Amino acid sequence: MKPGKFLGTLNGTRFSTPPIWLMRQAGRYLPEYRAVRATTRSFLEFCYTPEKAVEVTLQPIRRFGLDAAIIFSDILVVPDALGQKVWFETGEGPKLEALTDPAQFGALSRARLPDHLAPVYQAIREARAALPPETALLGFAGAPFTLACYMIEGSGSRDFAKVKGWAYRHPESFGILIDLLVDSVIDHLTLQVEAGADAVQLFDSWAGVLPEEQLFGWSLEPMIRIAHGVRARHPKVPIIAFPRAVGPAALMYRRNDVFSALSIDTGIGAHWAARELQPHICIQGNLDPIMLVAGGVALEREATRILDKLGHGPFIFNLGHGVVPQTPPENVAQLVEIVRNWKPSVT
Ligand code: CP3
Repeated sequence: MKPGKFLGTLNGTRFSTPPIWLMRQAGRYLPEYRAVRATTRSFLEFCYTPEKAVEVTLQPIRRFGLDAAIIFSDILVVPDALGQKVWFETGEGPKLEALTDPAQFGALSRARLPDHLAPVYQAIREARAALPPETALLGFAGAPFTLACYMIEGSGSRDFAKVKGWAYRHPESFGILIDLLVDSVIDHLTLQVEAGADAVQLFDSWAGVLPEEQLFGWSLEPMIRIAHGVRARHPKVPIIAFPRAVGPAALMYRRNDVFSALSIDTGIGAHWAARELQPHICIQGNLDPIMLVAGGVALEREATRILDKLGHGPFIFNLGHGVVPQTPPENVAQLVEIVRNWKPSVT
């Protein structure tokens, strides 16, 4: 297979302009997504219908010609596969029957995961076959801490008091849950790679709620174990880490012995990232998703600023977080143009 710009960059090749894809590039901002989404009431059932998942995975590639597709799924398919009750309420986001006692861990089992998530692997096989060879296909999973947040809070949260209270008061039993999630995520990512995912991304969306002292143990260390577990079977698969909102603690994650790229959120300055992180590891990010809503000269100026700072080193253009539903699709087309037409200045 002809390696395109995205995989080439992860493998150390330099191109005149960086590759671009966007977190949540398939979603409600696209009318063609809303049309397919409207055909299934339950969001999880939608994720588990390969034909529909493949269609919405391909939509942003057809429209914008991005360098990578990300398989349409959700991080919460893992707790669902383990046997926890997960559902999505319109306008409210995810809901789970929250874990309140370590005695409930016994009911969770990894044994069902490969069968339960077979539709995701089927969608990956079909999406890979349908994509242009130079367009990479990304698989993904939530990192253990972020999954534990949803599993213990039972939804998103303002203060994460339940999950953090559990981790601080009962680190032994919290560690048992994290270990189960490490093994489950290794299984899920390995099966995605075997179905045809060219690279994988680990989303630690809530890492930033932990104090720096706790970050190694509950965020980075489990992600390292996952990377080793996946690489034991697939030594060359690129792995991207996204520890969101960790601020200067991002320094801990610049581990090119473990990760192939570090995805940074909007809170990290491109200039600081170019100096402190990029000499160690390929950077992905970090345009503010609201700049993509704003569009026009503001988008042009800010995207160019990021390119001028980070475009000279190993870099994948992305957002600092996902595309929001109010994004005008034409602004995504504008952003792709800006990135493809960027002229590196002589440094
Ligand atoms: O295009 C892509 O990026 C692929 C698909 C994708 C989805 N969720 C689809 C989705 C990916 C990579 C995710 C990851 C995900 N899911 C994360 C990590 C990234 C992040 O945003 O921090 C998290 C925390 C979740 C959990 C989740 N799923 C939430 C909080 C929500 C509700 C938020 C919302 O926008 O409504 C979801 C639902 C969800 N997952 C939607 C989509 C397109 C919207 C639901 C719908 O279309 O009805």
